[in-house]
Amino acid sequence: MSEDLRTQLERLREDAQMRLAAVADAAAVEALRIALLGRSGELTALLHELGSVDANDRAAIGQLANAVHTEVETAIRDRLASLHTAALDERLAAETLDMSAPGRPVRIGHLHPTMTVERDLREIFHAFGFEVFEGPEIETEAMNFEALNIPPDHPSRDLWDTLYVAEPGSDPPRPAEDGTILRTHTSPVQIRAMQALPLPIRVIMPGRCFRYEAVDASHNFEFFQVEGLVVDERTSLADLKGMLEEFARALYGRDTRTRFRPGYYPFTEPSVAFDVSCLVCGGPGCPACGRTGWMTILGAGMVHPSVLRAGGIDPDRYQGYAFGMGLDRIALLRHGIPDLRLLMSADLRFLEQFPGGR
Ligand code: DAH
Repeated sequence: MSEDLRTQLERLREDAQMRLAAVADAAAVEALRIALLGRSGELTALLHELGSVDANDRAAIGQLANAVHTEVETAIRDRLASLHTAALDERLAAETLDMSAPGRPVRIGHLHPTMTVERDLREIFHAFGFEVFEGPEIETEAMNFEALNIPPDHPSRDLWDTLYVAEPGSDPPRPAEDGTILRTHTSPVQIRAMQALPLPIRVIMPGRCFRYEAVDASHNFEFFQVEGLVVDERTSLADLKGMLEEFARALYGRDTRTRFRPGYYPFTEPSVAFDVSCLVCGGPGCPACGRTGWMTILGAGMVHPSVLRAGGIDPDRYQGYAFGMGLDRIALLRHGIPDLRLLMSADLRFLEQFPGGR
């Protein structure tokens, strides 16, 4: 009996090595481990028989049994490790990475044509020493109108022009009591710039504006402007003229002709309208310029003393000039786009035709 157990243990010892060598994956190794070492495994069964071994042989056979147990356990662990390494090697060999393969194309968008115009203007004015200053799209009536010398009875303050933010809970909606509106132009940012920045001031103020408009091919309720403001101890209409002439040539080319006409804005005195030779016909006159040969591209003037005062600046010591222009029309003219509404259509078939800026 004790002879027999020793033989059985020796056989299992050899047997286990062969069976281990024959299995091909981790799952099969695990099955073999259970078959040998599990609760009702073959080696476990032999160990149970130790109790009935002759007392003289027990120590020696017990030692052998332990040795076999340890050996089998170690062999299983080694086999698992080598199977793992082999699987990894196989995967690494199969997964080749071709460093020379061309990349998958990534879809990168581009700037909206109006934003490309804005970027161009930022660059031009940057070269003229202007910084960029931005203000909020939701404004107070006080900033949008009063501070700009636009009195309460001025026609531009009509409900028809301005988008009022409704008083919370009012039904039917009525204008908010704190006078919040969507700004109708970027001019209120002039006031904010004067209040925030040290003198002298030399900024452009780009941004989105809103008006309650009957939308058609040349009017939208949402549009973009760039405002400009210079405040210093010695600025003049001559500075404004020279700067705008250079600006027009930078934007439209050296051959662009320009002219100033008298204009009217409550926030500038004197006020001017600034024209460039027609961007479609170049001068002889066409439907685009109303057969005049000229196109008005912006309004400008010397900042009104009341506006300087609203910005906290002493008009007896400082003067300033300001200008404001719409960006959407510049984009239309640049690309020959016939309808302003297309710009806000969010239609990729349209937008992808103007891959301009990134
Ligand atoms: N805020 C004017 C508008 O929306 C444009 C404008 C005109 C701005 C003259 C100015 C300016 O700064 O001096 O029509």
